[in-house]
Amino acid sequence: MIWLELQRNIDSSTMVTIEKVIDETPTVRTLVFSDDFLSKVLPGQFAMVWIPGVNELPMSIMISQEKGKAAFTVRKHGLASTALYSVKSGDQIGVRGPYGNSFTIRQGRLLLVGGGTGLVPLMRLATFLKKTDDVTILMGAKTKQEVFFEGLANKLLEQNPHKVIVVTEDGTYGESGLVTDIMQRLLKESKFDAVYTCGPEKMMHKVVQLASENKIYAEASIERMMKCGMGLCGSCCFGDVLACKDGTVFDSRYLLTNKEFGYTHRSKSGMLENY
Ligand SMILES: Cc1cc2nc3c(=O)[nH]c(=O)nc-3n(C[C@H](O)[C@H](O)[C@H](O)COP(=O)(O)OP(=O)(O)OC[C@H]3O[C@@H](n4cnc5c(N)ncnc54)[C@H](O)[C@@H]3O)c2cc1C
Ligand code: FES
Repeated sequence: MIWLELQRNIDSSTMVTIEKVIDETPTVRTLVFSDDFLSKVLPGQFAMVWIPGVNELPMSIMISQEKGKAAFTVRKHGLASTALYSVKSGDQIGVRGPYGNSFTIRQGRLLLVGGGTGLVPLMRLATFLKKTDDVTILMGAKTKQEVFFEGLANKLLEQNPHKVIVVTEDGTYGESGLVTDIMQRLLKESKFDAVYTCGPEKMMHKVVQLASENKIYAEASIERMMKCGMGLCGSCCFGDVLACKDGTVFDSRYLLTNKEFGYTHRSKSGMLENY
């Protein structure tokens, strides 16, 4: 009974008030709000976020540097994400969750590979790692203007042996090329015990393949169209599993058997589309 009282009802939205808006890049913002419940979720878990009068979207739950606070980091894209990006301090949004599983915490030499807002669950993962882990983070962006979380990643890992390597596709900052090009180089130079990835699916597919070829355990957090977020509607089906309930994190052994991974996903109407 006491347990039930302590739990939030995750089937319905709780309204939260945005307390701080941080501009990360010209198209990405972090929205901070007080929520003790969401501040403690596992790395990889997500919430369904309701923008009143617009829509509800799945969002990875971002860390906040302040106790009892959680955040979302949103890139403006279509109608709903632009509406979420445009909320101001004092505005209210609805949140329900957390949903989904989480990354498995391994130890040793760890490689985290993220692109864009795929870095959000990897930042939370960084806070769960042991101080003895040797961590390399590869951060991909198209151009210098779109790089974010570099300072945060260095801060989160300041007590670990670590490297944060930024890679831009146009070479305007950090290493030039794709994160997977740099990953290939790193795999020749060092041995890793586990690889974690989140970002564009083509990128994750290549990351998982490279890890597998090098016999390294790997996990990826995948995105699919989500409506209920809790295994009821079927809109997030990913081959023979539901991304929201069985994932969003899957290991490489499973992913390389799923014919959709890296190739197809479902549109808003449920049609299979190519990436
Ligand atoms: C588990 C999960 C975590 C996510 N975390 C983040 C995050 O931290 N930050 C961030 O900016 N974005 C995140 N996204 C993506 C986000 O939910 C939206 O897909 C994206 O913001 C575009 O939405 P839109 O409605 O503005 O765009 P639209 O123009 O309406 O749609 C563009 C594309 O976005 C995708 N999309 C739209 N609605 C949904 C939906 N309900 N579920 C899944 N995909 C959808 C589809 O591929 C669609 O074709 C996450 C998605 C998932 C599934
Ligand atoms: S979003 Fe409804 S079953 Fe996954």
